[in-house]
Amino acid sequence: MCGIVGYIADENVTGVIIEGLKKLEYRGYDSAGVALCTGADNVLLRKKKGRIANLEEMIRDEGLFAHTGIGHTRWATHGEPSDRNAHPHTDMSGRIAVVHNGIIENFAELKKELIEEHGSVFKSDTDTEVAAHLIGIFYEGDLEDAVYKAVQKMRGSYAFGVICSDEPDKIVAARKDSPLIVGLGKRGNFIASDIPALLKYVRQIYLIENNEMVVLRENDVKIFDSERNEVHRDVFNVTGDADAAEKEGYDHFMLKEIHEQPSGIKDTLIRRMDDNGEITLDGISLTKEDIEKFNRIYIVACGTAYHAGLIGKFAIEKLAHISVEVDVASEFRYRDPYIDENTLFISISQSGETLDTLGALRMAKEKGARILSVVNVVGSSIARESDDVFYTWAGPEIAVASTKAYTTQLICMYLIALYMGRKKEVLSTELYRNYLDELLAIPKKLDTLLEGEESLEEIAKKLYQDDNAFFIGRGVDSSVSLEGSLKLKEISYINSFAIAAGELKHGTIALIDKGTPVIALATQKALLEKTISNIQEVKARGAYVFAIAMESSRDMLGDADDVFLIPDCMDDVAPVLSIVPLQLFAYYIARLRGCDIDKPKNLAKSVTVE
Ligand code: F6R
Repeated sequence: MCGIVGYIADENVTGVIIEGLKKLEYRGYDSAGVALCTGADNVLLRKKKGRIANLEEMIRDEGLFAHTGIGHTRWATHGEPSDRNAHPHTDMSGRIAVVHNGIIENFAELKKELIEEHGSVFKSDTDTEVAAHLIGIFYEGDLEDAVYKAVQKMRGSYAFGVICSDEPDKIVAARKDSPLIVGLGKRGNFIASDIPALLKYVRQIYLIENNEMVVLRENDVKIFDSERNEVHRDVFNVTGDADAAEKEGYDHFMLKEIHEQPSGIKDTLIRRMDDNGEITLDGISLTKEDIEKFNRIYIVACGTAYHAGLIGKFAIEKLAHISVEVDVASEFRYRDPYIDENTLFISISQSGETLDTLGALRMAKEKGARILSVVNVVGSSIARESDDVFYTWAGPEIAVASTKAYTTQLICMYLIALYMGRKKEVLSTELYRNYLDELLAIPKKLDTLLEGEESLEEIAKKLYQDDNAFFIGRGVDSSVSLEGSLKLKEISYINSFAIAAGELKHGTIALIDKGTPVIALATQKALLEKTISNIQEVKARGAYVFAIAMESSRDMLGDADDVFLIPDCMDDVAPVLSIVPLQLFAYYIARLRGCDIDKPKNLAKSVTVE
């Protein structure tokens, strides 16, 4: 999704803005650009379709110098990816430049008004250019005033960064429903849509709230509320490691992040255990009475996080005896689910900024639900708007395809289920201890599993040229197959489809032919015979079967063409192990197909539009 960086300082800001944009590449983008106050009458604009490297190439020999500038990585919403649709956009005069993250919902209506009443001529198809023109119309020598008046007329979501060549000593920024932070640097101040963009330069930031406006100068930052009253904001100290955002010798962030899973899971777990082995959920204030009151839980999320929610349902229903419904946020928020004060709403989100998840959360909150969120990014919008927050502690996830966020989300879901079951006293001490021991054993088992990585590359070599793949599984394996399939399609562009193994014969089996790859999840000992029957059904139609199973089931999988064995564990926690070979399988297939693994086409890391 779009990324913003702005910088005002006593040094040349051009290179720093470009470096910051590079740190936002992981969010996904299709073009990039900068606008600078260089002392000329108009702001200087440079923008280019494609990678930031293209933009760098374009400006390499220009020796651009400015103390004030804004930059942007665009992920197309209104108008195709192109040089002219890339941000920044300017007003009619060319003196004001704007970068924008989000969607102006009433842009068509505003555009019509600007054309008819002010003779505006537009150079792009974007909603952002409409915002730039509107600010230009209101500009009477005070940029702050013009931005304030313009945002009053807009509906939708936005984070804006605005500069004006008549006032080169300031950057004005505004936020509604799209993330925006301010970084306090040594030589000046920054705006950005995300902390990783600034990690190299700042440790102290302000988190900007909805409907706030910011005026940045080299030595000063002022934040205003929606009534234009100045507000005080505490400094947020970022403790993350800047190096954690680098590849550390791995060819891709995705591979690095897959390998970080044993330590990430360990961190997520051990920080939640006290000396007596009891779960302590920091950030969660749910009491026994609260939990007993809940008669319904909704888990709502998008994509990979939704898949983690599906496993959460298994765990909560089994361990805490509360009925759980899982839904994708874009559907949930537009139906009329029954929600009252006895409802617990759990949202799961790596970024904490996914607009649909945030929208669903707000709707549930308004109807009286208690809001618990499982989030990776500290200080994100979802974290801030929740009653209770459970951080995944996965560290920054840079690759667009989610890996370590998913497995740590799973761990969080198990911990929440165990915590609730224990508080409600519906969970035997024996099962509780057994579960915890199984979870604590996972990091070591994952280390062992990762030692077998090479064999997955070999299997990938056999299948990477196929254009279709099917994933099947039963019980929790069926949810893992959804995530394995998503990983494959998003980074390798193979048309991959996941289906509950028992449902296969109700239509989809018509697509299985000689050589069709079927990835069969067969980790559930209690369901193994049934899954093996499904494997035989596809084998009988000529499928090439790659099975994932536990070591102790090795002898039962003779019909599969390839088998990857995961260490034995309790059936319920197998997803944390079985997803890892699927992540690696997708990785090696995508690599063999020559795909841009960390930044797949059309995808964004943080989806801040509907
Ligand atoms: C896929 C992936 C996405 C995200 C989804 C939700 O690998 O990463 O499906 O899971 O866009 O994002 P968050 O978790 O940030 O709310």
